[in-house]
Amino acid sequence: MCLIETSPEIQTRRTVLRAPEAVDAARIAAVCGDLAVARMTARMPHPYALTDAEGWIGRAQGQDPRVERNFVIDHDEEGVVGMISLFPSEQLADEATPPGRSAVRTELGYCIGASWAGRGLATEAVQGLLGWARRDWSRRVVSAGHFADNPASGRVLEKAGFLYTGERRSLFSRARGAWVASRMMVWLA
Ligand SMILES: CC(C)(COP(=O)(O)OP(=O)(O)OC[C@H]1O[C@@H](n2cnc3c(N)ncnc32)[C@H](O)[C@@H]1OP(=O)(O)O)[C@@H](O)C(=O)NCCC(=O)NCCS
Repeated sequence: MCLIETSPEIQTRRTVLRAPEAVDAARIAAVCGDLAVARMTARMPHPYALTDAEGWIGRAQGQDPRVERNFVIDHDEEGVVGMISLFPSEQLADEATPPGRSAVRTELGYCIGASWAGRGLATEAVQGLLGWARRDWSRRVVSAGHFADNPASGRVLEKAGFLYTGERRSLFSRARGAWVASRMMVWLA
């Protein structure tokens, strides 16, 4: 029998990546309510209310653990400082995809609250999650993209071993209400 652990706890040097719980909603809303954070992501709305955080936690708890994992980044001393997710992204079919089928890839997303930025925490979380994904979730390829005006995120991805694919896309930012030039990256286990 194959048992899938739905909420692994992933220990990094200073944090634990763990499943979000109802008590995390206020801190998540505080982190994501900051426009400087939300505008660098595709999916966060702005303003970001407590109910948005509760909705994210509820969806995370109901996720299919075979295809999606969502974690809070719980710092040993500071509590929840951000979030990190691996989720399916529908991509255009390529020549390896049977006709009429779309390819599903695993994509990475994350954020760190502005109060805790610049301390290496995003890099630590991404490295910890990729190690788990390779070891325990059998992932060999993970995609990511960052807005071209967010070089700090590109640096985080580079430090964690991602490479630029050379592909540039326009991705929609809900918080900006606009399409934003983006650079695509890939990590290979
Ligand atoms: C971008 C973000 C994830 C960075 O988190 P963090 O914990 O500060 O990241 P780290 O400290 O691990 O690494 C940041 C790196 O970016 C570099 N950096 C910061 N600002 C930069 C800039 N304007 N240009 C280039 N590099 C920059 C830092 O110097 C550091 O690299 P270094 O270790 O080589 O010096 C965080 O600020 C955030 O969540 N922003 C809003 C949401 C977001 O961007 N999410 C990612 C969407 S793709």
